[in-house]
Amino acid sequence: MSEQVTLTQFIIEQQRGLPDASGTFTLLLNNIVTACKQISHRVNRGALLGVLGSAGTENVQGEVQKKLDIITHEIIVKALNWSGHVGGMASEETDDPIKIPKKYPKGKYLVLFDPLDGSSNIDINLTVGTIFSILRCREGVDPETEDFLRRGAEQVCAGFVLYGPSTMLILTTGKGVNGFTLDQDIGEFILTHCNMRIPEETEEFAINMSNQRYWEPPVREYIEECLAGETGQRGKNFNMRWVASLVADVYRILNRGGVFLYPADLRNPDKPGKLRLMYEANPMSFIIEQAGGLSSTGREPILDIKPQSIHQRTPLIMGSKREVERIIDLHRRFDRPEV
Ligand code: AHG
Ligand code: MN
Ligand code: MN
Repeated sequence: MSEQVTLTQFIIEQQRGLPDASGTFTLLLNNIVTACKQISHRVNRGALLGVLGSAGTENVQGEVQKKLDIITHEIIVKALNWSGHVGGMASEETDDPIKIPKKYPKGKYLVLFDPLDGSSNIDINLTVGTIFSILRCREGVDPETEDFLRRGAEQVCAGFVLYGPSTMLILTTGKGVNGFTLDQDIGEFILTHCNMRIPEETEEFAINMSNQRYWEPPVREYIEECLAGETGQRGKNFNMRWVASLVADVYRILNRGGVFLYPADLRNPDKPGKLRLMYEANPMSFIIEQAGGLSSTGREPILDIKPQSIHQRTPLIMGSKREVERIIDLHRRFDRPEV
């Protein structure tokens, strides 16, 4: 007999004993996972299916969409809209939240997602992923945009799927973080990384250095400290990594520690940072904190931000606890030098 634990078994056992567990959440997760298996197949076949390259369109953020940005968005919508478990969805790729067609019942969960994260890497065959965030909603109602605008701390589940050398699902329901690897032969995600914990200390940072001239002083100071290495005030050498796929950078940090920074970008005051709060920063911060790490803008915890709009951007600094605390402290000292 196999000792392997499938994702479905894991979730059912985790939900068992919860007072209001009805099995709906397990079914919802199964639908998300089915969509991600389809995406994994498309990403893996790549040029053979003719799915690489630009779609020649722009999304609401003014970013050029790849064919796969659109394909993956549609796969997820189709996998979830008929199920009766979902009240509404929001995606990086559409301006407004997606309504459930009238012919289907509306369920008690809202699903927010980045269907293809790191899509600039798709044409060069590097790791990409899907990120999702699940909130509760009032059952049977047609949610308006305001119903989605809830703090990250209210998420009931967050996860991401990594389409890399292996296809992996990283998941939290607020009881730690677990990793599952897709066994392509049997089509099931199998629990392979139990209770993932981020080391508190690190010697690795991730930032896009080409934006250095737009950073605020506390971020400049932190990176200068890292670059000074063992001869500087930190007294140790740091290494740098930047995949330009949030999913891949976060997965590395979950495994061996590190700190990820996409700080406020002073280029455009309307865009504080690049990454989106609702479907990038919130789910990743929930996962990072459930694994013992910390996530902040530098000035406030990401999970405490009250969102103003679906596609709002945020500075994002997360990873190993001690390093993030150090960066928060540098912001504090910069903002209130007299204290
Ligand atoms: P997306 O492909 O969903 O638009 O997200 C890309 C994000 C994220 O994955 C990554 O960390 C970051 O953009 C990279 O930004 P730069 O290209 O500015 O380095
Ligand atoms: Mn993304
Ligand atoms: Mn994307």
